[in-house]
Amino acid sequence: MSGLANAGRPIDEVIADLVEKRKADVSWADGRTFGMVYDGGPSVHAVAEQAAALYLHENALNTQAFPSLGDIQREVVGWTALLLNADALTDGPAAGFLTSGGTESILCGVLAARERAEAERGITEPEMVLPNTAHAAFHKAAHNFGLKINVVPVRGDFTADVDAMAAHVGPNTALVVGSAPQYPHGVQDDIEAIAALAASVDANCHVDACMGGFVLPFAERLGRDVSPWDFRVDGVTTISADIHKLGYAPKGVSVILHRNKQSRKYQTFVFDGWLGGFYASPNMQGTRSGLPMACAWAVMQHLGIDGYVDLTRQTLDNADKMRQGMAAIDGIKVLGDGQFHLVALAADPDADGSPVDMFALGDALLDRGWYHDRQTPPDNLHSTVSNTNTGVIDAYLADLAECVDAVRGTSTDDRSTTYATLE
Ligand SMILES: Cc1ncc(COP(=O)(O)O)c(C=O)c1O
Repeated sequence: MSGLANAGRPIDEVIADLVEKRKADVSWADGRTFGMVYDGGPSVHAVAEQAAALYLHENALNTQAFPSLGDIQREVVGWTALLLNADALTDGPAAGFLTSGGTESILCGVLAARERAEAERGITEPEMVLPNTAHAAFHKAAHNFGLKINVVPVRGDFTADVDAMAAHVGPNTALVVGSAPQYPHGVQDDIEAIAALAASVDANCHVDACMGGFVLPFAERLGRDVSPWDFRVDGVTTISADIHKLGYAPKGVSVILHRNKQSRKYQTFVFDGWLGGFYASPNMQGTRSGLPMACAWAVMQHLGIDGYVDLTRQTLDNADKMRQGMAAIDGIKVLGDGQFHLVALAADPDADGSPVDMFALGDALLDRGWYHDRQTPPDNLHSTVSNTNTGVIDAYLADLAECVDAVRGTSTDDRSTTYATLE
């Protein structure tokens, strides 16, 4: 490893090096990446870039010094709460904060559930109950905050098995989790049943709408069938909704919402015994970049409800077309009955001939520039579809059909999925 040079370098050289480094990254802008980056189109980029330049250096740790960031947070959270029908709450008004992403929103939701369970029910050995499709962030939260986790296998259709979850709910339950929709297969859990289960022991119910929070409200406006999942459902305590996914803001922003301020206070940290002065923090961060918050505000203002409805129409059309095209290819099948924007593609066990090795298929698609995350069991290729993929679905399906044929009878020993290096 070489150290940082004593002499600084000119701007153009430094930037040229970064441009060079980026060449190995996936080229999301051509639509061949299913997830990770969500492209709302040129005007969405423009408004985000201008907002980013304005707020590049601002620090939301201190909203007395930067009151604009306090306003931005309040407004973005308020708009999101109304999108999720918080006006239906009789014990509201809903309250929330911006966080750096879905994981942080989930950490805040789990912490609040634990704190509330202790303060209001005297629970000192808190537990949570969740289907095995709930995001890994809940496991991270349980690990960090010392909750026992009860993981319940999903049904054959990949939805939460609420009857089986009920067997794990008891006096120590602090939190019961459902997703709208879940990440792996894109199906939605029965949130009404999950919330009722949580309410039966006065536990929190967290709805993970990191993926769906900026899709389902617009899908409903498009006349799609969306079963109840938001603050219209009795017993839902907290909801996470990511603006940096299908909200089309750049990375680093999500919303954690609570049904009221009483619930929200369980996630905040206030400390008045430090020689550095009074310290109050709404989420997991200390110093907090104003940039993603300002970008979220700008993108939401720029798109408005109509812009989101258009992007959602495009997204759901893309996903429907993918599912239809996949169903017509022999040897593969879509897992579950996802109606929204996530698709998990596996080998069809009922197809004739040797099963398609899905990770060999992933390699073949990658050779043609198509990037999927890999999941298991069963081995499958995950797609988070968005407006990013508009215009490329026909080309993708043609390549997919050719690649399925090409990999028949082959296999790969590389079962590795692709995630952050911990080196
Ligand atoms: C349903 C769901 N929950 C939580 C997360 C975690 O979000 P993040 O990666 O922004 O931390 C994801 C990410 O894909 C997700 O799909």
